[in-house]
Amino acid sequence: MNDQYEIIDHEHDVVVVGAGGAGLRAVRGLADAGLKTACVTKVFPTRSHTVAAQGGIASALGNMGEDDWRWHAYDTIKGGDWLGDQDAIEHLTKEAIPSIVELEHDGVPFSRLEDGRIYQRPFGGMTTHYGQGQAERTCAAADRTGHALLHTLYQQSLKARAEFFVEYFAIDLLKTEDGQIRGVLAWDLQGGQLHRFRGHQVILATGGYGRAYFSCTSAHTCTGDGNGMAIRAGVPLQDPEFVQFHPTGIYGAGCLITEGARGEGGYLTNADDERFMERYAPNAKDLASRDVVSRAMTVEINEGRGVGEKADHIMLHLEHLGPEVLHERLPGITETAEIFSGVDATKEPIPVLPTVHYCMGGIPTNPFGEVVTKDGDDPDKIVPGLMAVGEAACVSVHGANRLGSNALLDLVVFGRAAAQRCTELVTPGARHNYDTSASEQKALERFDRLRFADGSTPTAELRDSLQNSMQTYAAVFRSTERLAKGVEKIDAELQSFNDVKVSDRSMTWNSDLVETMELENLLECAICTMHAANNRTETRGAHAHEEYPDRDDENWIKHTLTWYHGGTDVEIGYRPVHMNPMTDEMEHIPPKERVY
Ligand code: FUM
Repeated sequence: MNDQYEIIDHEHDVVVVGAGGAGLRAVRGLADAGLKTACVTKVFPTRSHTVAAQGGIASALGNMGEDDWRWHAYDTIKGGDWLGDQDAIEHLTKEAIPSIVELEHDGVPFSRLEDGRIYQRPFGGMTTHYGQGQAERTCAAADRTGHALLHTLYQQSLKARAEFFVEYFAIDLLKTEDGQIRGVLAWDLQGGQLHRFRGHQVILATGGYGRAYFSCTSAHTCTGDGNGMAIRAGVPLQDPEFVQFHPTGIYGAGCLITEGARGEGGYLTNADDERFMERYAPNAKDLASRDVVSRAMTVEINEGRGVGEKADHIMLHLEHLGPEVLHERLPGITETAEIFSGVDATKEPIPVLPTVHYCMGGIPTNPFGEVVTKDGDDPDKIVPGLMAVGEAACVSVHGANRLGSNALLDLVVFGRAAAQRCTELVTPGARHNYDTSASEQKALERFDRLRFADGSTPTAELRDSLQNSMQTYAAVFRSTERLAKGVEKIDAELQSFNDVKVSDRSMTWNSDLVETMELENLLECAICTMHAANNRTETRGAHAHEEYPDRDDENWIKHTLTWYHGGTDVEIGYRPVHMNPMTDEMEHIPPKERVY
């Protein structure tokens, strides 16, 4: 090593990495239960990407009409194209109701009906009576629901006296020789020191890795840091081939225009001014599931019916809704459209394009947040000490395609479940007598190697190359040829990382090094995505394969597991989908053709 590092020690009952909605919901629950809790976060909590969530959070409250959590469960299973675990989906949709009541009591400023109850709007793929009617299920705070939720959870976490370590970058997990995860090594970006956080449980709540793509709605901070740490600790990623494209990213800028815009009555047109979704989804039309809408938009463009000089985008119309609805229900996106596309949404349509939005895959967990892996004949072996929640995790409730407004729900339901599980697993104040020295040494060597990396390829150049490869070869439509080329490209980019150049060696505010560590995390997630996509010879949810256009239930109702062993070595395995619900309150939903 080039440097000897002095390390500052901390001992907590539980260490949470990440302060978005899932992390904060866990933190708050842990601290409320009297567990000494550290929250290690690379950005100030209220800057976490949850703040950007717009349209709302799903829950079958039935404020606007008839609803039932079982219909919500059915929609989620169908939306996920039968790759979601039905036991976890039962938990998600049933717990949605008390979770919203809890948020309401915590102070989330939801939009209201005249009588004071929470306002709910329609969202894609959300139905009543098992697909018969259209549900109004998505609870909203105008189009700034994530902002409202994140601020409330942060306030509650402070009230519960959790300890925050802000602008600390988590480097790697601390692991015993026999595979228990008992802490994390982190770098204080301002102070410049390294910190050893010991915890009986570590909860990864670090979000997704949308920034592996060139055009995404994800914040620049969404670099799969927790996934990278899990991968390096020997944990597989589950279902990484399923990456969601949101239909309405602003053309050219990628910023999100909420699906709530179509929920409020917005619609899409092509160059012939045709409302083309009527052809692809005769019932749900513009409110079909996101994979269906994104594919339809891409087909329209590919067949020459795109809008604009280059015929390369689609129009989203909101102008017919009138300024009052836009200002009351969709003020944020009206402003975003003005800033990023120069469009007055009250008068003209907004140019949009499918844009990467969400990673359905992630660190495999059970419905209580515990990380599981396949070990020999055991497909659900728990990794002691490690939990994951939110977009970093794959529970799996979203299967092959997430329904809009189920993400915020996932954050609060499983953040709460993980905290609850910790209260069963951890004795407050128990001693930390784990030997994690070997993994710590490895983490220090990695940190030091990257800090002094003196190759010839700047981080930004390699990141550009990665983002272009993902955008080109793992897009809305995939093909055998493009996926094979994508594997070749990503493998080469991982090799090139050995030649990365870091120019800044300092220990404080070193964005060059932070971005290089983030890039390594992105590359490790991306190689799993590309290899897993290359292996799945069917079309399911967000994985649309041109040569295999049908869903193949006989061979492919199974979760992919990808272990990355370094270099270009990706090991692929599979584990069964849980097809049965948790209790007899809900019936098993058998696979059938997915039409909207
Ligand atoms: O369109 C949106 O408002 C996004 C919501 C979501 O991804 O759940």
